Amino acid sequence: MGFKSFLVTVALVGVPTVNAQFQQACAALASRLAIPNATIASTIFVAARTNLTFPTVDPTCGTPFQVVSSDVCRVVLTLATSNRSSTLMEAWLPSNWTGRFLSTGNGGIGGCIQYIDLDYASSLGFTTTGSDNGHSGQNGTLFLNNIEVVKDFAWRSLLTSAVVGKQITNDFYGKPHTKSYYLGCSTGGRQGWKMAQDFHDVFDGIAGMFFSLIKNAGPAYPPASLWPVIDAELLKQCDGIDGAVDGIIEDPSRCNFRPETLVCSAGNGSSCLTAKQAATVRAVFAPLLATNGSVLYPGLEYGPGLVASIFNTYSPQQFLFTDNWYRFAVFNDPEFNTSVLTPAEIDFAWDLNPGGINTWSGDLSKFKARGAKILHYHGQQDQLISSSNSNRYYDLVLQTMGLSHSSLDEFYRFFRISGMGHCGGGQGATFIGNVEGSVASLDPRENVLTAMVRWVEEGIAPETITGTAFVNQTQALGVDFKRAHCRYPFRNVFTRKGSVKDPASWTCIV
Ligand SMILES: *[C@@H]1O[C@H](CO)[C@@H](O)[C@H](O)[C@H]1NC(C)=O
Ligand SMILES: *[C@@H]1O[C@H](CO)[C@@H](O)[C@H](O)[C@H]1NC(C)=O
Ligand SMILES: *[C@@H]1O[C@H](CO)[C@@H](O)[C@H](O)[C@H]1NC(C)=O
Ligand SMILES: *[C@@H]1O[C@H](CO)[C@@H](O)[C@H](O)[C@H]1NC(C)=O
Ligand SMILES: *[C@@H]1O[C@H](CO)[C@@H](O)[C@H](O)[C@H]1NC(C)=O
Ligand SMILES: *[C@@H]1O[C@H](CO)[C@@H](O)[C@H](O)[C@H]1NC(C)=O
Ligand SMILES: *[C@@H]1O[C@H](CO)[C@@H](O)[C@H](O)[C@H]1NC(C)=O
Ligand SMILES: *[C@@H]1O[C@H](CO)[C@@H](O)[C@H](O)[C@H]1NC(C)=O
Ligand SMILES: *[C@@H]1O[C@H](CO)[C@@H](O)[C@H](O)[C@H]1NC(C)=O
Repeated sequence: MGFKSFLVTVALVGVPTVNAQFQQACAALASRLAIPNATIASTIFVAARTNLTFPTVDPTCGTPFQVVSSDVCRVVLTLATSNRSSTLMEAWLPSNWTGRFLSTGNGGIGGCIQYIDLDYASSLGFTTTGSDNGHSGQNGTLFLNNIEVVKDFAWRSLLTSAVVGKQITNDFYGKPHTKSYYLGCSTGGRQGWKMAQDFHDVFDGIAGMFFSLIKNAGPAYPPASLWPVIDAELLKQCDGIDGAVDGIIEDPSRCNFRPETLVCSAGNGSSCLTAKQAATVRAVFAPLLATNGSVLYPGLEYGPGLVASIFNTYSPQQFLFTDNWYRFAVFNDPEFNTSVLTPAEIDFAWDLNPGGINTWSGDLSKFKARGAKILHYHGQQDQLISSSNSNRYYDLVLQTMGLSHSSLDEFYRFFRISGMGHCGGGQGATFIGNVEGSVASLDPRENVLTAMVRWVEEGIAPETITGTAFVNQTQALGVDFKRAHCRYPFRNVFTRKGSVKDPASWTCIV
């Protein structure tokens, strides 16, 4: 019996357990695949609940193992992307296939297949692919004097692995996928945007958010002990703007924080700032400007918890990802000292645009014309990437395409997730299904991935995304509250009727 009749058997009998034919088809796949420039390492059946370990994955990836949720055929291969670059990719082909295809993105400056995302989407019946983005590990040393590796990181690894993943899907199940999706956050968000901007025919639905440059704030950095004091003052000044004093700032772009209120009357102290420290706090939240004065990157948005946690990324010690990018991709000089980047050096990097990394085109007309959709989200207290860059990008698309926000909403919706940090976490209603660890529900009203699928396949666009907050941010302790997050440019305000914990007490206004 051939593999196609296996599919028929499953359809008729509806037995959820994987039978021997699926396992055999998986083992046989290696010899059936004919993919240009590929070296197939293995095609192996993995049963649900298997604890997969990854002994050869770089330790900086922080992914030593993954417990697999559903039965999959795991395909591992290496693709040559040029004569001096390659990408390692995996495709997880679920026994319970829905006909859908999904690519996952990467994070930071890696270099790392995100196995947890492969598990999340394959458990929901997507054929799911991930790649190492052209280099192994969470650093940029392989960019040195090799523009091909930089290109893989900027766009080519994702593009190539998606194209190959679709072919593997077709070869394995004996028919093409129905719809193609992308899920990513941080660097993964940037990768998804790159596809929407420059390779419009790869995905039908993209859910994700951005990554961009970050900066350091210079001298007079307040010590760690003072950041909680700054946090408390920030809440005092801005928490009530949305009508509710609940520890969550719904729309930080409306907050005009004045750290100067904390300046000590004399000398310094444990609960006040020197004037220079106040100026440094302002610098953290100020935009990064080119020497000609144009904004290269907006300042961080204000959020409680954010100011405390930025201590490590905005201190005078340069952030690892920025440091590696400048040394290995921009200047090709391992000795280059990034602790203080001059405005001229930043201009240079911006204009050099190594590998085509810049992801700032506002023209999504080809993507739109195909009927494809984008669901964009951003945590409003993201401590690494300014959430206002997402507002700015939405506005850029609106201006470039000459669309009102209601016509833009036909294919591109942007949800601001209040009280959420970088890709997750935070005291807000942050469980929105963007990653496997943040799933409160598979209901499309409460899950960005299933919302994306419903939008693409049924034409029902998400009006809001309802997030869930658990008691003490711990799922096992039960639901604390839910909140329906508005799509930009709407913002959430408390109606002052009912409980702040009731989503019905909030309303989206422009
Ligand atoms: C297969 O998918 C269906 C619908 O998504 C689900 O109800 C069922 O539990 C799944 N079976 C397995 C074995 O995962
Ligand atoms: C999976 O295996 C690794 C390595 O043996 C182990 O450290 C880890 O605890 C295991 N995880 C689970 C959930 O069993
Ligand atoms: C195979 O790789 C070479 C570069 O090494 C590239 O020129 C060619 O287009 C690739 N073939 C396919 C089908 O991707
Ligand atoms: C790799 O390809 C480039 C052109 O893309 C060529 O200039 C170079 O000589 C090739 N290197 C090797 C080692 O084949
Ligand atoms: C960078 O990653 C490579 C590949 O994983 C590793 O060999 C190297 O030691 C790392 N370098 C640093 C400085 O961490
Ligand atoms: C106050 O100033 C002293 C002397 O300059 C310095 O050592 C100390 O760290 C400062 N304390 C705070 C909280 O800034
Ligand atoms: C980099 O520059 C900073 C600021 O000038 C200096 O303090 C630091 O010692 C330099 N680091 C190295 C490794 O030279
Ligand atoms: C300002 O400088 C940046 C960085 O060099 C450059 O990319 C941009 O085109 C310049 N803008 C104008 C209006 O000249
Ligand atoms: C939640 O955390 C607070 C503060 O740490 C603690 O007082 C409270 O007991 C915790 N609640 C539960 C249900 O664990």
